[in-house]
Amino acid sequence: MAQGLFITLEGGEGAGKSTAARGLAEALRAEGHEVVLTREPGGTKGAEAIRALLLNQDLPLDALAQTMLHFAARADHVAGLIRPALARGAIVICDRFYDSTMAYQAYGQNVPIAQVRALIELVGLQPDITFLLTLPEAQAQARLAQRAAATDRYEQMNRDFFARVQAGFAEIAAAAPERVVTIDASPAPEAVVATMRTALRARTGR
Ligand code: TMP
Repeated sequence: MAQGLFITLEGGEGAGKSTAARGLAEALRAEGHEVVLTREPGGTKGAEAIRALLLNQDLPLDALAQTMLHFAARADHVAGLIRPALARGAIVICDRFYDSTMAYQAYGQNVPIAQVRALIELVGLQPDITFLLTLPEAQAQARLAQRAAATDRYEQMNRDFFARVQAGFAEIAAAAPERVVTIDASPAPEAVVATMRTALRARTGR
């Protein structure tokens, strides 16, 4: 059993996950905790190389192949960075984890849920707590429009795809209320971080 604490952040595009992850890491570091802030796909040298394949929109890849590449990257990330950090008692904050594969590849790209579940089992690491950041569709679109548009494989998907992804995240949260805390990401980043900090203490005692 890991002695550390494994926190994941999930949500669609433009929900402010990365900003929230950074803010939560800063808040926990200020309290004296060792925090490892990381992301998926990526987080280790091997996983970042796989990320480049996954996000390359000029490289056609079957949806099951994408799924397996996400899990190949995850396996390296878990073995090379996350498990060692948890073993020494650190708090790991990961920007996306396996719920993203369930939402994007299973719900979004119609890969069978059972196949994604089998891969989750294979990697074998569960988050202690997952924050699902949600925004109303119009607000998510507005935030995305403000970004410099470096489009990748997933950013270029259509509205129907993102509607399926959102529905997927909502179903995941409803099915695992003991793990997933849904957070309204529309307030200012500091308020979102404060809400996460409070929920973390309530749920994990840390
Ligand atoms: P990012 O934009 O949050 O860095 O994530 C990269 C993209 O990869 C994002 O569009 C979501 C997508 N993604 C999946 O489709 N499946 C996954 O398992 C993960 C981790 C990310």
